[in-house]
Amino acid sequence: MERLQKILARAGVASRRKCEELIASGRVAVNGRVVTELGAKADPERDVITVSGKPVDSQPKVYLMFNKPKGVITSMSDPGGRPVVKDYLKDVPARVFPVGRLDYDTEGLLLLTNDGELAYRLTHPKHGVPKTYHATVKGVPHGTALEKLASGIRLEDGMTAPAEAEYVDVDPDGRWATISITIREGRKRQVRRMFDAIGHPVLRLKRVAFAGLTLQGLKRGKYRPLTEEEIALLKRAAEGEGTRRERNIRDGR
Ligand code: URA
Repeated sequence: MERLQKILARAGVASRRKCEELIASGRVAVNGRVVTELGAKADPERDVITVSGKPVDSQPKVYLMFNKPKGVITSMSDPGGRPVVKDYLKDVPARVFPVGRLDYDTEGLLLLTNDGELAYRLTHPKHGVPKTYHATVKGVPHGTALEKLASGIRLEDGMTAPAEAEYVDVDPDGRWATISITIREGRKRQVRRMFDAIGHPVLRLKRVAFAGLTLQGLKRGKYRPLTEEEIALLKRAAEGEGTRRERNIRDGR
């Protein structure tokens, strides 16, 4: 017997938190009986579990990496008809959803999966999963400004956690610089706000790594399935653990 929200999340219905909401709202039934208690358990092998009347089956898990172009919303649909990630995944048979989000104007590595439980863990701040961005910013920040970014900077929603920041490329005329920044949180527009705070607004933002996984030549607007090794790495990252070697890979050391 397992908790209902855990079974639902693993079946790819939604994140565990969203599944709790589904249960509380009375949309989940076990063997035809609506269950609204969050502690309720079921047997995924024997019980018939339905969400809004539709049976939940344990679909095979799908894990994809997508190179999101800028000008695309991290969403599976947009009422306003703007381009969404789903437009690029038309031939994916499973119902996958994004792991966290990238801003409309941010490009780069976005994971998608129907493994709601893993997605939830990877985005939970408690696990501190590293995400690396290349930010091209206006002007060239001083080394002390980068140190500030790394040690923690005050934003309107509080101090940022320790990060790593280093130069990737600097315009000899001083008009721009590209900085690599690795953060372990996922606040709204965090990287853009961090650079705003040191007076160097972001001109272009690209996520180049997530939990040690990198785009590795994946073309913009394209996706690919993750390898078994990459999935294993993600699962360890989601536990906040892993071997020293894996932690080093994840942390880019
Ligand atoms: N930080 C941002 O500012 N934007 C993103 O899309 C991701 C991280």
